[in-house]
Amino acid sequence: MKALVTYFSQTGNTEKVARAIHEALHVRKDIVPIQDLQDAGGYDIIFCGFPVHAHSVPGKAQAVFKLLPEGQRIALFSTHGSLRGGQLPKQAFEHAVGLASKHKILGTFGCRGKVDHRVIEALMKQPEHKAWAEEAMSAEGHPNEADLADAKDFARSMMSKLG
Ligand SMILES: Cc1cc2nc3c(=O)[nH]c(=O)nc-3n(C[C@H](O)[C@H](O)[C@H](O)COP(=O)(O)O)c2cc1C
Repeated sequence: MKALVTYFSQTGNTEKVARAIHEALHVRKDIVPIQDLQDAGGYDIIFCGFPVHAHSVPGKAQAVFKLLPEGQRIALFSTHGSLRGGQLPKQAFEHAVGLASKHKILGTFGCRGKVDHRVIEALMKQPEHKAWAEEAMSAEGHPNEADLADAKDFARSMMSKLG
């Protein structure tokens, strides 16, 4: 059994979750940032992580889906500023699921990640984004220990699906 954790992370939040997932895996395993990934062959499962940007998957993270073998079993994870379980992060996963149409998605996991203060300041200046900016502010401190523990549970449950 061999697993890969690959992720895109601009400010470090998704990387923290990626490392927690990697730590929870008790098989042969690699962890590689998406931008350094060259060969994704030979894995039983690939965990792919990205931050939500503009309710979607950032372009730099989208590139990974082209590298994955057809029929590859994957598990998606993301971090986002908005509240967990809300409509906005769900939209980003729907986008990712569309991009991964040639792969077998075993599950998804999302948790909050603190939002860069420059993004919040820029959003606050635009009345149409003010509500979102206020929500984003409360993501401070995430991902926290509880989020990382949930990420590890997610990793274990994905592994148990492999049989
Ligand atoms: C340019 C930009 C756009 C973002 N857009 C969203 C968004 O649409 N929805 C959301 O919930 N969070 C959004 N965020 C917040 C990030 O998803 C969140 O801070 C995430 O944890 C960052 O992960 P990273 O540290 O791995 O880059 C945005 C952040 C940036 C920098």
